Amino acid sequence: MPGRLLELHVENFRSLRDVTVPLGPLTVLVGPNGAGKSNVLEVFDLLADIIRTDLQPALDTRGGFDEVAFWGGNKPPTSMRIHLKATWTTNSTLNAPDEYGLTIRRRSLPANRDGKRLTYALSREESFAFKRRQGRGRRIKITGEEARILDVRAGESKDSGSFGIRRLSSGLSTLPRLGPSDGGDEVTRVADRLSSFRVFDVDVAAARQPTRLRGTDFATLSPHAENLAGFLIHLSGREETWNDLVADARTVLPHLENIEFEEVGGSTDQLTVVLRERGLRRLTPLAYASYGTVRLLGLLALLYDPNPPAFTCIEEIDHGLHPQALELVVQRLREAAERTQFIVATHSPALVNRLRPEEFVVCDRDEDGASIIPALTVDEVKEIVEESGEQPLGELWFSGVLGGDLTGGEL
Ligand SMILES: Nc1ncnc2c1ncn2[C@@H]1O[C@H](COP(=O)(O)OP(=O)(O)OP(=O)(O)O)[C@@H](O)[C@H]1O
Ligand SMILES: [Mg+2]
Repeated sequence: MPGRLLELHVENFRSLRDVTVPLGPLTVLVGPNGAGKSNVLEVFDLLADIIRTDLQPALDTRGGFDEVAFWGGNKPPTSMRIHLKATWTTNSTLNAPDEYGLTIRRRSLPANRDGKRLTYALSREESFAFKRRQGRGRRIKITGEEARILDVRAGESKDSGSFGIRRLSSGLSTLPRLGPSDGGDEVTRVADRLSSFRVFDVDVAAARQPTRLRGTDFATLSPHAENLAGFLIHLSGREETWNDLVADARTVLPHLENIEFEEVGGSTDQLTVVLRERGLRRLTPLAYASYGTVRLLGLLALLYDPNPPAFTCIEEIDHGLHPQALELVVQRLREAAERTQFIVATHSPALVNRLRPEEFVVCDRDEDGASIIPALTVDEVKEIVEESGEQPLGELWFSGVLGGDLTGGEL
């Protein structure tokens, strides 16, 4: 895959008071309801929103700083921080990754004249760091109304000047306009990767609908698979991909013979997916197919996407699927992770059974309401697996010895 996210560090965003999440090609988050798994995904959603709209509007749509900052402790935190490491730009390496950091500071202002309402002011600091060519790095630092660009050679730093930028504007949304010699290409690369992020969760009712042929984007699967019929038609044009997808669907759905397409009500503008099922005289349109069948087709469509975004999060991936289908799902996730990066949330021990320790992140929450992610390091997980005589991860997790369960290890 052309580069990936290596690590996410967050301070004081929702329940994420201070977490550092290592991210591999496939990262599966498990843990109790309310542990903070979706909050991790929302960090990326916030960053993508900042790129599309800018910092202030992205905070405003979430109700403002105090609404999203950590609610634990006795007063609002004075800062919120997001820091990413990735290998997205051309010269980055695992040891010299791209880094992006955003800190939003909150300063309380004196009470209003009526003496009641406390108000606050926000400021932000941002930094981008890229490795450019051998021995040469570049840093862009944004504070107040200034963006400063520094070239760092071995021991020497050259200041290339500053660029006027509005006080609460984010470099993610404004700096892609910089010229290539000032690092605009690298900022654009980071912004493109972050803005392509999607949380995928099949909306079964929407996915059952026929797709209009006119005015629909067939080549990009929508986040809730609303254009599933259209996207499957698109995939059916690639013979090898399509044959593999249909073979997988047949493995999971015992009665399936084939996946075909049909015009709806004689209209040439609308097409629906129909299933040829063993023993039936008629084809089954997706509108009458089972819930799990529709979710499976949505998931397979995503996993066989030849041009996926840089990273995809899948909420509750096991939802509606037979436990034995999850082995195939994990296998396809790993294969698709060569083209994109996955962050997946699940509650299924059957799915976790198929994971390797480095793909598995246990999420928990402490007495103060703060998420603990990961609750165990990969080495700790490996040690527990070894001590158990190599029991499958899902069994160990379900029995409570890996944490992130409801029993505190008492089951
Ligand atoms: N600003 C905040 N400060 C502290 N905690 C917060 C804040 N906003 C939300 N939360 C907590 O985050 C919890 C929700 O977390 P999240 O949605 O990430 O859980 P989850 O692990 O995805 O659970 P599920 O498995 O049920 O989807 C809420 O129950 C609430 O306790
Ligand atoms: Mg959730």
